[in-house]
Amino acid sequence: PKTGSTTPVLIVGAGPSGATAALLLGRLGTPSIVISRHSDTANTPRAHIFNQRAMEVLRDAGLESRCRAVASSSEHMMHTSWLHSLAGEEYGRLYAWGNRPARKGDYETASPCPMSDLPQSELEPILVDEAEKVGAEFRFSTEFITQTTLSDGVETKVRHRPSGDVYRIRSRFLIGADGARSAVLDSIGIGVDGKQLNTAFNVHIKADLSKYLEVRPGSLNWILNPDAPEWSAVGNFRMVRPWTEFVVSMHPAVKDGIQFEPTEKDIIDRLHQMIGNNDIPIKILSSFRWTINDQVAHSWQRDNVICIGDAVHRHPPINGLGSNTCISDAYNIAWKLAYVLKGQASRSILSTITVERKPVGDGIVRRANDGMEDHRTLWNIIGLSAEERRKTTSLMARPEGAALRSAFRQALEKTDDELNALGIQMNQIYRNSSMTLVEVDDYGEPDLKLVNVVKHQVISTYPGYHLPHVWLAQNSQSHRISILDVCGNGIFTLITGIGGSSWRAWVKEVEHARPGLVCHVISIGWRQDFMDAYGDWNKVRGVNEDGAVLVRPDHFISWRCKDLPQEGGTKLKTVFDSILPPA
Ligand code: FDA
Repeated sequence: PKTGSTTPVLIVGAGPSGATAALLLGRLGTPSIVISRHSDTANTPRAHIFNQRAMEVLRDAGLESRCRAVASSSEHMMHTSWLHSLAGEEYGRLYAWGNRPARKGDYETASPCPMSDLPQSELEPILVDEAEKVGAEFRFSTEFITQTTLSDGVETKVRHRPSGDVYRIRSRFLIGADGARSAVLDSIGIGVDGKQLNTAFNVHIKADLSKYLEVRPGSLNWILNPDAPEWSAVGNFRMVRPWTEFVVSMHPAVKDGIQFEPTEKDIIDRLHQMIGNNDIPIKILSSFRWTINDQVAHSWQRDNVICIGDAVHRHPPINGLGSNTCISDAYNIAWKLAYVLKGQASRSILSTITVERKPVGDGIVRRANDGMEDHRTLWNIIGLSAEERRKTTSLMARPEGAALRSAFRQALEKTDDELNALGIQMNQIYRNSSMTLVEVDDYGEPDLKLVNVVKHQVISTYPGYHLPHVWLAQNSQSHRISILDVCGNGIFTLITGIGGSSWRAWVKEVEHARPGLVCHVISIGWRQDFMDAYGDWNKVRGVNEDGAVLVRPDHFISWRCKDLPQEGGTKLKTVFDSILPPA
């Protein structure tokens, strides 16, 4: 076991939140120690729907192609279906995860990264490996016991589980990325609102189900099968590898307060029933339980301790927002911590973490729970007992079943809020943050009341919004390049255009006044650094050609200026002092 150490940042947890934070900090030259009570990364596939916003973070960290190589593509995620069994009657299906033909363009417009299906057990080793390459040190089988706040940081007591040795690690900051039962969050006395929901029973299997799924590819295949009273009627075949590896949710029923305890034979029998074919060979790799919660923490932080991921937001897997939001949390905090540790900003910037991320956490937890309700409505219409089901399905097929058919289809369509919810994935809007600054004459804030913000992305360069993706080109011989790829990467970027060349000198003045601060300037337009080849930047930039859009290292807009101002150097310095107060 390793003993006593000091590090700028100690991270508790090597899951999607903790490992991403270690990776991003390392890329900014800030080393960290990561402890995890488990002996290795996730041993079951867990979260898998990988959304565009999360992939943009990994793209910025240079990992997109490595992740894509082990992910299933958007085409494999084409549908979500509802059936009696995989071989039996189908009740209906929806196009899913951006595959609805009428929505495909929205997803393609939103991001350079397509949706994908990336099991957590494939993602975590990549994050750990890449984080180690940039200086993070992982200590598995090491448990957080308690922490004490010091005047200049935190002292954390940890236990090396195999040997039982207890030792201390001193750090300037402690990140609690320790999942839904966060001991770190408890240690800083922050409460959570909400409740525990239920326990999922998942079985990880290998079985060749190609003949049922190739015709109707999809990550999620709901089985509404009430034929076995020991099991709840609702289950799901979730693709891990098309079409030979799955995680199957199958809930043992509770009768008179006692939950049925299945044997391996019971599980296989039920799986065959859910498949609808007893001859399919099945290999059980593991079975595991998972507690589903509906909870959000009151705050993400206290003093030098910051919590992210499931430590602060916990919800059902509907909409697939869990690990994606963990990655966005890490993106939000990593650069802020690195700037503070390098003396490039006052530690007051850290107070923006809760201000910016809690509304995102509140929003995803609400949506995932609303989505659960939509599913319940659907299940209740089709009927959860064998008797009810016989009646509804027979009525559905007769002329007098028109009202039932219509109610069912309407309930099915409502789950589109889960399956084509581009908005909830992309619209992380940072309001009231001291790291965004709105000019008094900027009346351009989008009216969110006019938009279904769950389903549709709001595209704007208004401060607090995410930089919209548009394709640019360097010259007539270059491949197209996303504007996201020329921003981010740990530094600020000021985007201007024709007539805005004075911004370069003004940025230099700021950099001179603030040693260590780097702000990249790019000009987009005719004979500039980048061609607005498709004219899309012109449509979304929200300022005039000689104006400026200031983008934070995490791709969020911190300020914009309509035209070239008078006294631009002084103006820009005031802006930086406001959004990034000096140490
Ligand atoms: P995460 O829980 O992944 O990681 C916590 C980390 O903290 C681990 O490394 C752990 O060892 C460490 N840790 C915890 N306590 C510690 C302590 N006291 N000391 C040291 N280290 C400590 N989601 C979904 O969308 N679909 C799904 O099917 C599933 N299935 C699923 C199954 C199981 C078994 C779990 C636990 C979770 C899921 N999830 C899921 C949820 C999803 O996995 C979850 O949203 C993310 O993993 C959260 O990532 P975090 O990094 O925040 O925590």
